[in-house]
Amino acid sequence: MTSSEEGGLYRSRLGKEMDEDALNYLSSLRDDEEIFLEDIEGTEAHVIMLYEQGIISKEEARQILRALEDLKKEATEGRVELRGGFEDIHELIESYIISRVGREIGGKLHSGRSRNDQVALDIRLRVRKYLLEIWRETLALGNALLSRAEEQRETMIIHYTHLQHAQVGYVSHYLLAHLDHLLRDLERIKACYHRTNRCPLGACAIAGSTLPLNRDRVAELLGFEDLVENSIDAVSSRDFALEAVAITAIMMTNLSRIAEDLIIWSSSEFGYIELPDELASPSSVMPHKKNPCVLELLRAKSGRVIGLLTGLLAMMKGIPTGYNRDLQEAKKPLWEALRETRDSVKILTKVIEGISFRKDRMLESISGSYAPAIELVEALIKYSKLPLRDAHKLVGSLVRRLHEQKKALKDSDPSILNELSQEILGKEVTLPEDVFKEVVNPMEVAKTRKTAGASTPKEIEKMINDRKKRLGEVAGEFEGNLKNLLKSKEKIEESISMLISGP
Ligand code: ARG
Repeated sequence: MTSSEEGGLYRSRLGKEMDEDALNYLSSLRDDEEIFLEDIEGTEAHVIMLYEQGIISKEEARQILRALEDLKKEATEGRVELRGGFEDIHELIESYIISRVGREIGGKLHSGRSRNDQVALDIRLRVRKYLLEIWRETLALGNALLSRAEEQRETMIIHYTHLQHAQVGYVSHYLLAHLDHLLRDLERIKACYHRTNRCPLGACAIAGSTLPLNRDRVAELLGFEDLVENSIDAVSSRDFALEAVAITAIMMTNLSRIAEDLIIWSSSEFGYIELPDELASPSSVMPHKKNPCVLELLRAKSGRVIGLLTGLLAMMKGIPTGYNRDLQEAKKPLWEALRETRDSVKILTKVIEGISFRKDRMLESISGSYAPAIELVEALIKYSKLPLRDAHKLVGSLVRRLHEQKKALKDSDPSILNELSQEILGKEVTLPEDVFKEVVNPMEVAKTRKTAGASTPKEIEKMINDRKKRLGEVAGEFEGNLKNLLKSKEKIEESISMLISGP
């Protein structure tokens, strides 16, 4: 449809054409590109049901469906321009059908429907699709983290708190931590998917219809699990969309933290990782540069998505129950948040798959680190029966002295500790030489940890096996959803072709 074709289809009681500026101001036509196909599919399901319920004749359904199929084809081939004097995609599509099949037949397609339940349907269909895309990309990122975790089992790294050396551990453990976060994101996506996957159509404007509509049939044709039963709820609620954006904001916040770690680790000072050239950006003037721009943008986009969520919440909070035009404005941030998140997860997967870990640089940091100090404290608790506070004080003093002497923890020995103890605690402290050597050796200390979920090879192995299973389960549920949608797609396509080509 082009600008030569005009809207105004709905202006039955309004004496004048709409003011041009007003139309430009309120038209959502351009933003509705995201729901173009969804609106056609929803309309097709509605028309099939109108025929099956005897509200329109077979011939009428056939002609409308033929025109809708033509439009769908043109739309998928990108041949339809979303322009013209229409308030939105709904008016454009209905006008198109009327222009094709005439008002006598085309004028019946919207029977028993309002743009209020229609747009709620389109949004649910589109959010459902986005959630599946994000689900798929998140699975891919999860698999990337898992396979790098398997591969980097032996690679040691400092774990940081306050960005200061905390404890020695393994790269795998770091990667698995983020995989666990993603598994929770996946649980949230799954729950939101099922809450989104409900059909609002048939609610009409707000209170239902006197026509004998079959809401269950429309839901079935469109692959919904159930209805949004209450008609007021069906047209008013957008909490499924808010939930989807809240999920993306939570996801992006964590992805941004991974991005931040990787940005820091790729700096010359750390040098823990190297980005593959194909994911790095150059400088226009400094030829040596290898900038982590994709990660910086992910970090920035996470801020955007948080803003989109707060914008949406603010938009929603004062709207009276029922459809209000404010709801139109909520679509844009919704698509943006979902799209940016999907693309961010995808790019981060490439980064995780492509980075190389510089073991030499990580070991350099580890070898001079005082990070095993906490394990030395615990050895004093276990072998020397010191109270934690005394052990903490003693080891703290030892670290201070070694630091002044520019020595590493592994360069000291139990006799120095004993000497210090007499000075500070006023008592002897004995620690077996082999125990001392083991705990202050940063290469060995991580293996001595005993707690569940610790950064230690045994626990990492256990988690790798368990998470592999869990990722497989979530992938299975994802495939199950795809299969259900495919089945309903076949069902609606069958109904359409029977009606279009039948007698
Ligand atoms: N363009 C509108 C939207 O996006 C469609 C619904 C309009 N409904 C109405 N009663 N004006 O929300």
